[in-house]
Amino acid sequence: MAKKTKNLKEIARKLIVKTSPKSFVSEQFRGARTNINFSMPDGELKTLLVTSSLPGEGKSTTSANLAYLFAQEGKRVILIDGDMRKPTVHYTFHLTNTIGLSNVLTKKVSVMDALNETDLENLQIITSGPIPPNPAELLTASSMDDMITTLKETYDLIIFDAPPVLSVTDSQILANKSDGTVLVISAGDTDKVSALKAKELLLASKAKIIGTVLNNFKLEKDHHYYQYYGTGE
Ligand SMILES: Nc1ncnc2c1ncn2[C@@H]1O[C@H](COP(=O)(O)OP(=O)(O)OP(=O)(O)O)[C@@H](O)[C@H]1O
Ligand SMILES: [Mg+2]
Repeated sequence: MAKKTKNLKEIARKLIVKTSPKSFVSEQFRGARTNINFSMPDGELKTLLVTSSLPGEGKSTTSANLAYLFAQEGKRVILIDGDMRKPTVHYTFHLTNTIGLSNVLTKKVSVMDALNETDLENLQIITSGPIPPNPAELLTASSMDDMITTLKETYDLIIFDAPPVLSVTDSQILANKSDGTVLVISAGDTDKVSALKAKELLLASKAKIIGTVLNNFKLEKDHHYYQYYGTGE
């Protein structure tokens, strides 16, 4: 029983744009990448936040797949697990999570020492690091701005995975530091009120919502899929 659960988890964490690049879902993610590229003039989108209103809507799935696709098209990309409460990026990329964002923000390690390689030369990962008692406080520390400034020297695009907007303030803090925010909406789960409330909170933190990803969990004969809408409306 336990083994079955583990297997299901592993399957669920597969990076679909890598394992099934020709699938319908991967095609939708490439569409999202194109739309994000068109959403802002060249060079202005250096930091991208992927978030959603509620837990489990597909933030981590979306941010990981987008990071992989942006790297595949030649951008130098760093994916940062900004969810220091329920981190999952290290599972997706099969990394250990002993050193990561929380260590950098508390100045225990340098950002360069927190980088992890992937199978793509121009995609690196910073995992969450050990779960700290005060994630929101860490995200507002000056070390966060220092880290972003340093990374901008090396990378074309910094992508943040994050906790849900309606649960904690972390996403609002990250949105304020990001050039663009993508809001993931789960077709089956996200109610309109939650989506609008999340949008309101993000805009209150001066987020620039560049689009939404509609993630549809409905498993109709395995036809779960993603769609992308180009506006934040
Ligand atoms: N379109 C989809 N079809 C099937 N499974 C999906 C889809 N999108 C995400 N999942 C799975 O649903 C689970 C939740 O997704 P994910 O971790 O991306 O959500 P999240 O918004 O990051 O959640 P959390 O709020 O807990 O961080 C994962 O196991 C993921 O693999
Ligand atoms: Mg997540």
